[in-house]
Amino acid sequence: MQQTQRGLSLVGSGSARLAATLSNSDLSQVVDTSDEWIATRTGIRQRQVVTAQDSLASLAAEAGTAALAMGNCNPTDVDLIILATSTPDDLFGSAAQVQARLGASRAVAFDLTAACSGFVFALVTAAQYMRLGVYSTVLVIGADVLSRWTDWSDRRTCVLFGDGAGAVLLRASERDRLLGFELRSDGTLNGCLNLTYQAESQPLVGDTTIQTGTFQPVTMNGKEVYRFAVKRVPEILEKALFHAGLTAAEIDWLLLHQANQRILDAVANRLAVPAERVLSNMARHGNTSAASIPIALDEAVREGKVKTGDVVASSGFGAGLSWGAAIFTWG
Ligand code: ACO
Repeated sequence: MQQTQRGLSLVGSGSARLAATLSNSDLSQVVDTSDEWIATRTGIRQRQVVTAQDSLASLAAEAGTAALAMGNCNPTDVDLIILATSTPDDLFGSAAQVQARLGASRAVAFDLTAACSGFVFALVTAAQYMRLGVYSTVLVIGADVLSRWTDWSDRRTCVLFGDGAGAVLLRASERDRLLGFELRSDGTLNGCLNLTYQAESQPLVGDTTIQTGTFQPVTMNGKEVYRFAVKRVPEILEKALFHAGLTAAEIDWLLLHQANQRILDAVANRLAVPAERVLSNMARHGNTSAASIPIALDEAVREGKVKTGDVVASSGFGAGLSWGAAIFTWG
């Protein structure tokens, strides 16, 4: 485990294939909406949802397996698995189930929760262990099944989200391919986007009461989230680019959390990145929260768009509120 190479390379990617697709016109049979409204406001045409056979852990393991295969890595070589998710199968964490499914018997595994920023936060967390020389082979997985926590009667939110999982394999290397990063949180804006536990007091014994309740479906102030994203995401990308010693003109790909095409367009516009250098797959997947960045990366790598040596500027943003950017070279 202790190693002398203190840099990291991104050497494999993978994503899960989900069987069930919901188109915008399917949703127009569930709530009062239309393909035209959803596509114009968000860029989304369809999304995938988990079926009864699947779980958060099964999707995450499928993505992880594909990333290991691309990186020619045996599961038993993995030292660490970080699972970025806000929708675990088990509130105690799902990463250990993913580790077992992968057969990554040597790996320590834990969940990390930072909503749609989760993948970027997990990538940066993994990098710190690698730079210290503690771990040399790390799987970073972003996975979410927000369909479990969507209010399917709320047209303002249910049209936005999809389920999915994506993964990236990191290997220790002499040159460090994570060129720069920046992470931020602002809990004063927490009320913009929530999946909260709603508790009621229940007398237990004597004067002591306990809480009982359950998590409530996603609520969102769409306009506030939009304003936050188009202001904070360009700012944090510029900071991370500064740490990397690069300018926006020098990046090959802008890889943003796939929240909404209008947010992608506004951020690209602010940074003067041309549309052909912006990775976007939300028309096919919707917003898959922590999974959206690694899925988009995996698709772009497999399509041959993102090539070895390309500079990718990624940014996740969402509930917390939280936001982060990581600039890396692929391969
Ligand atoms: N179909 C038809 N009409 C709808 C729908 C829908 N799916 N959703 C809302 N409307 C209606 C509303 O009811 C409202 O009608 P009313 O004025 O009669 O009440 C009207 O459209 C405008 O509603 P708004 O909520 O104000 O819609 P807005 O123009 O803000 O667009 C959107 C909503 C697309 C979500 C926008 O706010 C946005 O882009 N926000 C960014 C937030 C985001 O992308 N969140 C993703 C999750 S968070 C994350 O990943 C970071």
